[in-house]
Amino acid sequence: MKTATETIQAIHWLDDKLVILDQTKLPHKEVFVELHTTGQVWEAIKQLKVRGAPAIGIVGAYGFYLGIKNAVETDIESFIKHSQGVCDFLNSSRPTAVNLSWSLNRLMNVVRTHQGGDVGERKQQVLEEAINIHQQDRETCKSIGENGGSLFKESTRVLTHCNTGGLATGEFGTALSCITHAHQKGFVENVWVDETRPLLQGARLTTWELQKAGVPHSLIVDSAAGFLMKQGKVDMVIVGADRITKNGDTANKIGTYTLSVLARENNIPFYVAAPRSTIDMDLENGGQIEIELRGEAEVTAFNDNPSSPEGTRAFNPAFDITPHQNISAIITEKGIVYPDYEKNFSEIFGT
Ligand code: MRU
Repeated sequence: MKTATETIQAIHWLDDKLVILDQTKLPHKEVFVELHTTGQVWEAIKQLKVRGAPAIGIVGAYGFYLGIKNAVETDIESFIKHSQGVCDFLNSSRPTAVNLSWSLNRLMNVVRTHQGGDVGERKQQVLEEAINIHQQDRETCKSIGENGGSLFKESTRVLTHCNTGGLATGEFGTALSCITHAHQKGFVENVWVDETRPLLQGARLTTWELQKAGVPHSLIVDSAAGFLMKQGKVDMVIVGADRITKNGDTANKIGTYTLSVLARENNIPFYVAAPRSTIDMDLENGGQIEIELRGEAEVTAFNDNPSSPEGTRAFNPAFDITPHQNISAIITEKGIVYPDYEKNFSEIFGT
């Protein structure tokens, strides 16, 4: 058993303001920025200063409070209308991760249905609920780590994609929480970290987190994954999720689907780790998930340095869909869910 290491908390609610670690500056600079308005929160989400599905949900919740706390409306109906506007605005920042709308809906329920209380009291209840969402995510991620950690055996070589650690959540992470948990038990021989083009969440962020946690890891280019699998150097793949539909289809960072096909071809278990808040029981299958398209410049240049001839066109989907058939199991805070996902989600979550 290894000693516990420092965990990452990138989101803080301090003295009525939101403070986040600006992930665009990592790994070279650890810069915390204050966000005072809903507009600033929207920008921070859009520009990936804060990113990762659960983290977007948490920050969105605080952003919602920032947008309603000074609302001038005094009657409940006008206040609900104002709140809905704030909710819709924040929801427009990034479409794929369902955690954002999940959080905002939770807060809109408080605004709409909280028994009694004037507008001032409801504002206070919204803040309390945002703090709950944040705190619950930390507990959830801890449980995901414990559940997923049980899948590791001695000397496991695990491959992961994008960043799913404390940076992407309230603390601990999802897929990365499973890995760090298994590491505590001495079960991790090596983590293969996909660099995760185009924005390098793996190279910049996952390596930074694993280094802090003292977990052995090697960075690889995304296209090396198949070669390593074929050579027998990967025992399992664990990734996070941005939205999982009723049937288990999973939207996650672009390149995840490719990994799932490679894992299947090489008989390697492929796990998705995610909280209940990432499961969208309103959607039947992955074909219904909106995939965020980001700017061409993220592909044609890096850090404003062009990496292709001027005028090159690019196509930049931020996520892809892994079909449920390619997923061995989904690790949640309530336990490990195996196919049939729809039936087993209902059983485990009672939805
Ligand atoms: O574009 P990003 O960096 O927000 O994409 C993040 C991912 O795809 C993560 O794998 C996912 O949100 C899970 S984070 C626990």
